Amino acid sequence: MNEKKRVCVIYGGMSTEHDVSIISGKNVIDNLDKEKFNVSSIVIDKNGNWLEEGKKTIKNIKEHLKKNDIVFPVLHGKYGEDGTIQGMLDLLKIPYVGCGVLASSISMDKVYTKRIFEKANIQQAKYIFIKNGNIYVDANLDEIELNNSEIAELVEKELGYPVFVKPSNSGSSVGISKATNNQNLIKAIEQAKNYDNKILIEKGIQGKEVECAVLGNDKEVRASTVGEIIPAEDFYSYDAKYNNSKSIVKIPADISENKMNEIKRTAIKAFKAVDGKGLSRVDFFIEDKTNNVIINEINTMPGFTEISMYPKLWKYEGLSYSELLTKLIELTYNKAIWNEN
Ligand SMILES: Nc1ncnc2c1ncn2[C@@H]1O[C@H](COP(=O)(O)OP(=O)(O)O)[C@@H](O)[C@H]1O
Ligand SMILES: [Mg+2]
Repeated sequence: MNEKKRVCVIYGGMSTEHDVSIISGKNVIDNLDKEKFNVSSIVIDKNGNWLEEGKKTIKNIKEHLKKNDIVFPVLHGKYGEDGTIQGMLDLLKIPYVGCGVLASSISMDKVYTKRIFEKANIQQAKYIFIKNGNIYVDANLDEIELNNSEIAELVEKELGYPVFVKPSNSGSSVGISKATNNQNLIKAIEQAKNYDNKILIEKGIQGKEVECAVLGNDKEVRASTVGEIIPAEDFYSYDAKYNNSKSIVKIPADISENKMNEIKRTAIKAFKAVDGKGLSRVDFFIEDKTNNVIINEINTMPGFTEISMYPKLWKYEGLSYSELLTKLIELTYNKAIWNEN
C-alpha cells in the first residue's frame, strides 16, 4: 500500500446506545494505525445531526463522505447497526467496515433473527412473538388478537416463567426485563412497547452466558476462543454491562474443548446464516440442566471499548486492538487477512 487509505470513523448515533458508541468510537479512532491510515471522524448526535471534528455541522454529507476511501461505522442499534447507514454508503459507493444491509437489518431484529436461525437448525430459546401491542403471531405467521390475560395464559402454557421480554430491535439490554409472573409480565410488555411495536417473549435459560467473536469474509471466516460473562446483577442488564464493575468477563470460558468447538462452529454458522461479513459477536447460553448450546443473538457491530468482549477475544488470539482494526479495514477491500499468520 503506497498511499494511506483515508478512513472515516462514524460514531454516536440516534439510538439508545449513543453513549456506548461514543466510547467505542473514540477507542477505534485512538487505536487505528496512523502509519497505515489517514483517520478522520464524524459524530452523529442524538438528534441525528452529523458533526465533523470541532463539532461543526456537516452541510453536505455526501460530499464530505466522498472524501474518504473507507467508512468505519462504529454505531450500535437503530440507524447504525440496522442497515440504514450501510444502505446509504452502498448508494454512495463508499466501502465500509462490517456487515452489509441484509445482515445488519436481520440481526438488529430479534424476531427475524430467530426465524433465520430456525431455518439453520440452530438451537434457541422458545419464544412468542407479539406485535402492535396485542397481536400474537403464531408459528404459521397467522395473526390472533389477544387481551392481556390471554397473552399471560399463552406464556404460561407455552414457555413457563421466568421469561425475558424484549423489544425486537433492542440493544445493550435497553427495554428488556425478566418476568416471573403474570403481573410483571404485563408490566414488562408495556415497558418493551416503548421501544418497538414488535415484542419477543422468550423462555428464560438458566446457564452460563458465553460469547464468541467472528472475523472474516466467506471462506476466510474465523471464530475466536469463547468468553464467559458473569453479570453482577440478576441478568446482563444495561447497568450490569456498563455501570457495574463487578460484572466479570472470563477468557477463555471455563468449558470443555468440545463445547468450545461446538460454539465456534455454531457462531460461524450463525454468521453465515444472516449473510454476515467482516465481523460479528455471537452470544450463547450453555444450559445448566442439559449442557446444550443455545444461541441468544448476533451483534453485527459489537462494543469496541477497550474492555469490550470482541477486541478482548481477539487479543487472546494474539491480535492487538490495532491489528484487529487493520484486518477489519483490509476486509473491506477483500484483502486476504489470514494467510500471513
Ligand atoms: N432467554 C434468556 N434467558 C436468560 N437470560 C436472558 C435471555 N434473554 C436475555 N437474557 C439476559 O438479558 C441480556 C440481554 O438480552 P439480549 O437478548 O442479549 O439483548 P441485547 O441485544 O440488548 O443485548 C442477556 O445478556 C442475558 O443476560
Ligand atoms: Mg446481548
